[in-house]
Amino acid sequence: MKNTVVVGAQWGDEGKAKITDLLAQKADMIIRYQGGCNAGHTVVYKGETFKLHLVPSGILYENKICFIGAGTVILPESFEQETNELKSRGVDLSNLKLSPLATITMPYNTDVDGWAEDTVKKGKIGSTRKGIGQTYTDKMARCAFKVGDLINEETLLEKTDIILPLKNKILKEVYGLKEYSKEELLELFKKYKKIFEPYICENWQEMLRTNKDKTILFEGAQGVMLDIDYGTYPFVTSSNPIGGGASTGSGYGPAMIDEVIGVTKAYITRVGEGPFVTELSDETGDKIREVGHEYGTTTGRPRRCGWFDSVIARYAALVSGLTSIALTKIDVFDDFDEIKICTAYRDNLNGKIYKDYPTNVFMHKYLEPIYETHAGWKSDISNIRTYEDLPENCKKYLKRIEELTGTPISIISVGPDREQTIFVN
Ligand code: GDP
Ligand code: IMO
Ligand code: MG
Repeated sequence: MKNTVVVGAQWGDEGKAKITDLLAQKADMIIRYQGGCNAGHTVVYKGETFKLHLVPSGILYENKICFIGAGTVILPESFEQETNELKSRGVDLSNLKLSPLATITMPYNTDVDGWAEDTVKKGKIGSTRKGIGQTYTDKMARCAFKVGDLINEETLLEKTDIILPLKNKILKEVYGLKEYSKEELLELFKKYKKIFEPYICENWQEMLRTNKDKTILFEGAQGVMLDIDYGTYPFVTSSNPIGGGASTGSGYGPAMIDEVIGVTKAYITRVGEGPFVTELSDETGDKIREVGHEYGTTTGRPRRCGWFDSVIARYAALVSGLTSIALTKIDVFDDFDEIKICTAYRDNLNGKIYKDYPTNVFMHKYLEPIYETHAGWKSDISNIRTYEDLPENCKKYLKRIEELTGTPISIISVGPDREQTIFVN
């Protein structure tokens, strides 16, 4: 296998973890490059379900290095809970490595995220309340604590004296929220050090250099449409899930990347607020949700469901540089009479037709999807393991997606389990 990035090509929850776990068999090192515990990644192996948030979805194999890179943000309590649960289920974490450059989510980051979710009415994001946006804001504003700071007490004292007065001023005067004392923070840092110490990879430069010629798999969280630069801004997350993010977030340069696989469902979903042109607020949307078990892995929220949107898939292929698509959850359509694909948008203000994604999302309320209808295959495909054995109507649907996106499908997923996969030659 070549060095490969796995990215979400929609609004997240495309089944990235299943594909990462699958490809991890042939990788030596798996690197999670952005996002935090807002991610909910489900791996099903031998009937057992693992829900991962920060730990790379390659952890179920022995002897693979799983590295959480500099582009990530880490909520200590969530990391502690996740690693404890994995350990209690017998998963070996001796190869789990955490970059000292990853950013720590502080309690005031989650406080402000929660405040915004509870207070803001117009323009609310519908975040996961994990402090993600606030942590990345602090990182960009150059007032964040890094995992590596925990190793050095002098640095912690120095940084606390610089950062805390500023944070307290904002917490009090802007948000009217609880301020933190220096002692409180220093106590927290002791706790965080205990949580992170077994995993902090101080020799990460040596590790990256040693593994440069091995097979690297880069695991994205969220999806292209949640990307801070290319997504449905401002209804996005605060990092770069796109293929390019793999480089900044991992520490390996772009020349290390050979392939970018975009994971996309046979339909599309979204959790949280924001525009969604092919959303189905009817019985068909409910049927997709129920058959596809479309409820958030992290927050349990029902996911909004809609038909496959090829305008988005084509856009994702462009801005993420997709070399192929992994199409998941096509089995969800086994009992559907017909299946629709959105091929373009019509602007009801001026009749304009869009095949390229219109990036001003505040005007999306005037957009209407243009659909073509495909006949369903009305049979169970979850046990099929070769492309040739798929029903003709299913093959036609897949071919049409390739045509519309200009991107070949390399993997077809027909169920949550590792085995329920078809590799297309
Ligand atoms: P991620 O965030 O992209 O890793 O995706 P999630 O884990 O949040 O959501 C995907 C859900 O679909 C999980 O419950 C997976 O177990 C499940 N899943 C993945 N691939 C398939 C598939 O091909 N068919 C079905 N029925 N379920 C799948
Ligand atoms: P995975 O990796 C789906 C959404 C939230 C919200 C927006 C911003 O499992 O695909 P944030 O907490 O990041 O500030 O929320 O992004 N969101 C996700 N939606 N899957 C995810 O991750 C998501 N991570 C964040 O619902 O709309
Ligand atoms: Mg998810």
